[in-house]
Amino acid sequence: MAEVIIERTPQAASARAARHIAATIAARPDLVLGVATGSTPAHLYRELARIRDRDGLDVSRLTVFALDEYVGLPAGHPESYAEVVRREVTDALGLDPSRVHVPDGSAADPFAAADEYEQRMEAAGGVDVQILGIGGNGHIGFNEPGSSLRSRTRVKTLSRSTRTANARFFDEVDRVPAHCITQGVGTILDAGHLVLLAFGAGKADAVAAALEGPVTASVPGSALQLHPHVTALLDDPAAAALAHREYYDDAWSLKPADVL
Ligand code: F6R
Repeated sequence: MAEVIIERTPQAASARAARHIAATIAARPDLVLGVATGSTPAHLYRELARIRDRDGLDVSRLTVFALDEYVGLPAGHPESYAEVVRREVTDALGLDPSRVHVPDGSAADPFAAADEYEQRMEAAGGVDVQILGIGGNGHIGFNEPGSSLRSRTRVKTLSRSTRTANARFFDEVDRVPAHCITQGVGTILDAGHLVLLAFGAGKADAVAAALEGPVTASVPGSALQLHPHVTALLDDPAAAALAHREYYDDAWSLKPADVL
């Protein structure tokens, strides 16, 4: 069962995740960190940068892999995940850009780019700690409902609901790319520790389905139940539909030693 930690606010949950990840990097400076994009982890990255500045955390040997990228945006597009990761992670933390990897969504052959990304992750020894958000439809990465739970990094079509949810980053929904390269569910499950963040009432049903519902490709997040080490950090509204809340509250405290 996942460790489920419910905090009063997204800021408190993000700060807790950041403290844990910082301690893990301090214990293992050559950590391979998987990062999600979107709104959910933004505060975590800011908090991590603050801890780095305050404590002088050495991030020079940290390697980062992003979960996914849109297909077809020109290189340098401000809403491409390459740019989002550059702004929110690489620049904010002062990482060596050559150690930060995002699938190449502007490649002439995105299918080959997806295969190459999977190989690059393998060559790096895989992800140690993977930060995840979850879509209101239960997706993790951009693995939409129906994705094989054993899938690897590949090109996928984005659902209308995901494109509508992400239209806030573009002027209108039709400008949101229709395709993406995403780590597969199987790729994500290969990471050593999965840290899921979910905030807000709009995530409550997806969180409950992922953590407590049947394991099914219809809810790709439910694959988390197949992983031996998952920590879910939620705010109260995102935890509202969980049936087993009494087992979760304050049950665990994260320690770096538990992770690797
Ligand atoms: C982003 C990603 C997605 C998001 C999810 C939630 O890299 O893989 O699974 O985590 O769509 O997005 P937000 O956080 O914007 O609600």
